[in-house]
Amino acid sequence: MAVRFGDTPRDRRVRVQGEPVDAYPRLAPEVERGAVRRITVVGEEILGRRCQEVTGFGTPELSRLIDDMFATNRAAEGAGLAANQIDVDLQLFVWDITDEWGVRHVGHIANPVLDEVAADCRELVEESEGCLSVPGPHRVVPRLDRAVVRGRDKDGNPLVIEGRGYFARCLQHETDHLHGHLYLDRIARRERKAALREMAGAKEAVLARRAALAAELGK
Ligand code: NI
Repeated sequence: MAVRFGDTPRDRRVRVQGEPVDAYPRLAPEVERGAVRRITVVGEEILGRRCQEVTGFGTPELSRLIDDMFATNRAAEGAGLAANQIDVDLQLFVWDITDEWGVRHVGHIANPVLDEVAADCRELVEESEGCLSVPGPHRVVPRLDRAVVRGRDKDGNPLVIEGRGYFARCLQHETDHLHGHLYLDRIARRERKAALREMAGAKEAVLARRAALAAELGK
C-alpha cells in the first residue's frame, strides 16, 4: 500500500459543490427530502453500459432524482452513488464523503468528464475500495491520487470538482460507473471471482442492514 505525504489542508470546512461553507448539517438536506430506492447489483445490464447524458436541467424531476440518490447513498452508508445504481440511465452521480484529512465533500455532478493526466504525471495509489452494487467485499484498486471532473450542476451551470486521496478515488469510481465499469473490472480475474463469491455470502446481511438504516431514517 502506498504511503502518501500530502499537506494537511488548513481549511477544514465542508465543501459543497466544491465550495467551502461555514456550517453544514450532519444529514444533507437532500437526504431529508429523498426516498430510498433499490440499489442495482453487479450483473444487472444497466451497470454494464454507458449512461445517457443529462439534457433536462433545472427540472423538479432532476432535483427529486438527486434527493433520492442522496437518501439511498446514506441508507447504504455509501460515499458516492451513480444514477445507474438506482436503475436510472443518466450520467449523474452524488457524493458525501470525508477524506483522510477530515474534510467532508458533498455534492452532485451531471455529465462528468475526468481530466486526462499525462502519463509522466500519473501517481497511482493502492487503497481498498468497495461498491454499493457489490455488497460486502472490498479490494485494493490502483487509482490516481488526484482527479478533476468537469460537468454541470442540476441547473446546468458548469462545475469543476477537484479531489485528492479518497475523494479523488470516489470521483474516479463514480465516473467509471457512468461508463459501465465497476471496480471489479480494474482488478485481476481471480480477485474478481473471489470478490463475487464473498458478495454471495455477505449480500443478505448487507441488504438487511440497509433496510434497517432506511427505517431509522424514516424512509
Ligand atoms: Ni460503486
